[in-house]
Parts: sequence; structure tokens; C-alpha cells
Amino acid sequence: VKQKRIKYIEPGLFTARPIYINDELLLDKESFLTETLIDKLRKRGVEKIWIKDNSELSDYEKQTFLDNSYNRLLKRTVSILNKGRDNEDIDIEALGSTVRQILDSLKFDSDILLNLITLKEEDDYLFTHSVNVSFLAMMIGITLGLPDNELRSLGTGALLHDIGLLEIPSRIRNSQNSLSPEETDLLKQHPSIGATKLMDYDDIDVESVNIIYQHHERCDGSGYPEKLIGEQISKMAKIVAVADSYEAMTHDRAYRKKYSGYQALKHLLPLSGSLYDSYYLQAFLKFMPIFPIGSLVLLNNRAIGKVMASGANVFRPVVELVYDSAGKAFRESRKIDLSRIENSLLYITRVMTMDEVMDLIMPSAAGE
Ligand SMILES: [Fe+2]
Repeated sequence: VKQKRIKYIEPGLFTARPIYINDELLLDKESFLTETLIDKLRKRGVEKIWIKDNSELSDYEKQTFLDNSYNRLLKRTVSILNKGRDNEDIDIEALGSTVRQILDSLKFDSDILLNLITLKEEDDYLFTHSVNVSFLAMMIGITLGLPDNELRSLGTGALLHDIGLLEIPSRIRNSQNSLSPEETDLLKQHPSIGATKLMDYDDIDVESVNIIYQHHERCDGSGYPEKLIGEQISKMAKIVAVADSYEAMTHDRAYRKKYSGYQALKHLLPLSGSLYDSYYLQAFLKFMPIFPIGSLVLLNNRAIGKVMASGANVFRPVVELVYDSAGKAFRESRKIDLSRIENSLLYITRVMTMDEVMDLIMPSAAGE
């Protein structure tokens, strides 16, 4: 717990004590400080605040907090997008505050949050997808050091990128079977349907509309609707293309089971430079490593290792050998940097789940 001047307070912290002005309670203790709240307090003349150090919160507390904010954000997104579908006016204010909260949550703890979004499943996938893509796209923007106003345009466009899909019958957009050419054509109209809808709003940045219109364009010209190439595609649409594709791959869809993060990146990386802009894909890899620290991996010599740090090469992190090929634990811990030349014969064949590792080290346990 420490006291800080309000001008140095960033969103993403909790108050440690209630804030009063002339006996009027402005804010209770344990309140989450968003940008809007800090602004309000400043305007009311508050100068110093007692805040909790985020390191004083346990991971469980952080996760519970982020889980609750995620659910609130999702509800808001459902209502914003549904209004768009019903041809009511889109609530620009709700949209703006939703995007700000996404940004605040990312600044609060992006690691926990990014882990959380892969677990979210909803009846209508479109809504969680929109929220998640907004999180991922803004995280790419944060990694690249984009200023807050650009981050907000990016988050807004990402949240709305598929709004045009709501106009398309769900039997088509959730179809388990292959679509007829007419149905595919209709589906491919969702970027223009969405962009047309948003173009009339003065307070929506043109960059956000570009995202909606161009998120299916691909660098080599193989995308739609305009078959744009390279520099013709807006940088924000390129960021959303990466976030959108990764998010879609890591969740169940009507026509296929979800990929693990590792499998999704294995799909995306060879497309770097052709479909996806390698600059943004690299930025994505900075916070979404192929082999997250702590994951268990199977090496080509059948030993199992635990990822300890990301190495110089994204495919070749530093691993600690945990079990040998017979499933026996190594006596002494041995760390291997796979990016070093002397280890060039060793490589990771795949990521293992905890269950697979248990089966391997205790093969009899399953039958007992
Ligand atoms: Fe889309």
C-alpha cells in the first residue's frame, strides 16, 4: 500500500483506502481505477490516492477480477452488436467505454488475461470472438508502442470487425457443411455490409471502418473484398487479420475442433509475408510465444522438457529436461538452450498435455 499523486496514477490499479472529499465518499476502497474514474477524481480536485500495489494481489484475485470484467465486457458487446443488427443506432459511448476497459484490463495483467480468453466459450461464437480479437489486436498495438488514440481506434475496429456477419443468416455463418457458391458470396459480403453500416457515424474513426472493410484482405492479394496487396491494406486491418485468424483457430467452430496455440502458430508462421504482414506477426509472437514458459514439450530424442525461457529463435527455447525417453525423472536438472549450435540436433516435436505426461511416467496408474 502506498500513496501516490493522482497525476502519476495509471489505469489498472486498485484503491487501498476510500476516497472522501468533504465527507462525501467518492470512491470505496478496492475500487479498480479506470481512465475515466481517474479523470473524474482529478476533476473533483483529488490530489493523492492510497493505492494497492498490484504485486500485493494474488494470481487468484487477479484472475477473478479479470474474469468478472471479461463477462461485463462481453455483455456490453452483445448489446452493442445486436443493436447494430436490429438497425438501431450503435451506442458510441458504450462502445468507447468498452474499448477503454479492454485497454485497462490489458494494462492490469495481460498474461492472465490472454490465458483467460482462450478458455471462453459462448453459444454464439461471434460475440466472444469479437471481444477476444479486440484484446489480441490491442495487445499487438501495445507491443508496437502505438499511442492510446491509435490503440482505441484499433480496439474499436476489432470489436466491430464482424458486425456485418450478424446480417447473414446464422445457418450460413455457422454451417457445418460446405457452402454453395451463392452462400459463400453472401458470407464474403460481411466486410462491406459492416463498413457501410459504420461509415455514417461521425464519431467513429475512419481507421476503425478500414478494419471492418479490410480485415479479410491478405498481403499477397488473395483476400477479399478488394484483393488489395501489401501497402494498400491499412496497418490496422493487417493487425486485426493476425488477431482474427489466431483467435478463430484456437476456438471450436462448427466445421472443426480448436487448435492449441502451438498448432495455430505452426499454421500461421509459414504464411508470414504471404498472407500476413510479418512485422505484425512478429509483434504477436513477442507476447504469444509458440511455447509458453512452463509448457511441457516432447523432444525428438523422446525426452520431455519444460520450457524455461524463450531463446534467440522462437522455435528453439531454453528447456529443462524433466523426464527421459523411458519416463524416468532426470536426477540432476539440465538446462538446454535449443538455439545454441551444439544443440542443433535436438528439436521440439510437439507440446504435451499434462495428462499425456502422466500417462507416460505412470503407465499403470490409469488401470488402478
Ligand atoms: Fe470477418
